Amino acid sequence: MALSLNPPLADLAADAAAALRENFGVEANLTAAAPGRVNLIGEHIDYCDGFVLPFAIDRYIVIAAHANGTRQVRIGSAHQSPAVFDVSQPLEIGEPKWSNYIRGVIRGFQDRGHQIPGFDAWIVSSVPLGAGLSSSAALECATATLLEGLLDTVLDTREKALLAQKAEHDFAGVPCGIMDQFASAFGKANRLVLIDCQTGEPELVPFENPDLTVLIANTMVHHELSDGGYAARRRHTEEGLAIIGKSSWRDVTMAEVLTLWDALDEPINRRSRHVVGEIERTIEAAKALASNQFEALGPLMAASHDSLRDDFEVSCKELDLMVQIARDIGRSGGVIGARMTGGGFGGSTVTLCESGKAAHIAATLAAEYEKATGIKPEIFASRPSQGAHLV
Ligand code: GLA
Repeated sequence: MALSLNPPLADLAADAAAALRENFGVEANLTAAAPGRVNLIGEHIDYCDGFVLPFAIDRYIVIAAHANGTRQVRIGSAHQSPAVFDVSQPLEIGEPKWSNYIRGVIRGFQDRGHQIPGFDAWIVSSVPLGAGLSSSAALECATATLLEGLLDTVLDTREKALLAQKAEHDFAGVPCGIMDQFASAFGKANRLVLIDCQTGEPELVPFENPDLTVLIANTMVHHELSDGGYAARRRHTEEGLAIIGKSSWRDVTMAEVLTLWDALDEPINRRSRHVVGEIERTIEAAKALASNQFEALGPLMAASHDSLRDDFEVSCKELDLMVQIARDIGRSGGVIGARMTGGGFGGSTVTLCESGKAAHIAATLAAEYEKATGIKPEIFASRPSQGAHLV
């Protein structure tokens, strides 16, 4: 079967508890889960005061933990070397590298004045790593939720998401926007998380039509370019805004970008065209969804992908191919729209399609992609799911 299944959250929690028992000899008395996300539209504009339209997917990072009565944290997971550190002092960046997402979140709680108790923990994940589906935001939000449980406190959801984002900035060195952590923290079953990134206001938009399915296709490629590429794109947008002379992209029109085209120069002019166009497309998409006009999403998703490929230059040949296969299947084959999703330079595509044809579409995407690249993609469907919570 081409569609891979989403393991039930209860199974992930049971696996994490069993591994905790096996590796640390203790019973889990606290388990936190946080999902990855997929973005329907609004790409690379969360750091430009834009609108974005992601949802929390039915793929989770689960952490099972046991307070150990010391000031030491010990965390393991199946595919990483274990992390051990002392929480009696403010945490800094350290080894192993993956532990920095956790260190950064703990530091955020320390900075709020909390004394962090030591704990043993085991991490289990169904969010594919490096697939543009925000496994890092899921790890940050799961850690924050676990700490809420350990400290018997509850943060305001926005504060929690911003704390997680700060961990990503300061401890992982990625100058990300707010989309991923907001989607992971605010996500709800059957709701998209429409985020106004200027005000930081998330709005939950119903998405529960059973005739519609969202397919996520992981190309299984991750280009190294992504390391500096994301920061470079963000810098380009800042340079563009400075040349245009406005304080927010929300106040910039397409006419202004085109008038200033030569002054903006290559590639800032094309980056600017993407930002303004993508903000317009996302507003249109949200309006269309509010009035149940799903068909309108097709052309908007197509234009979004083309703009990310040509103007923002964050796509890659594998993403383009996966999108092209969906385009070739076309509306008559049940595809409403397809585009790359997330930061790009590899990762996943999102395909909105008719539910009755989803399995066949997934099979075609998998077969054609493998035929052309020799790579077996991972394809799954997800409905909008519950955000970070204690299990
Ligand atoms: C990554 C970042 C997000 C966002 C997307 C692109 O996922 O973490 O903040 O910028 O890329 O839309």
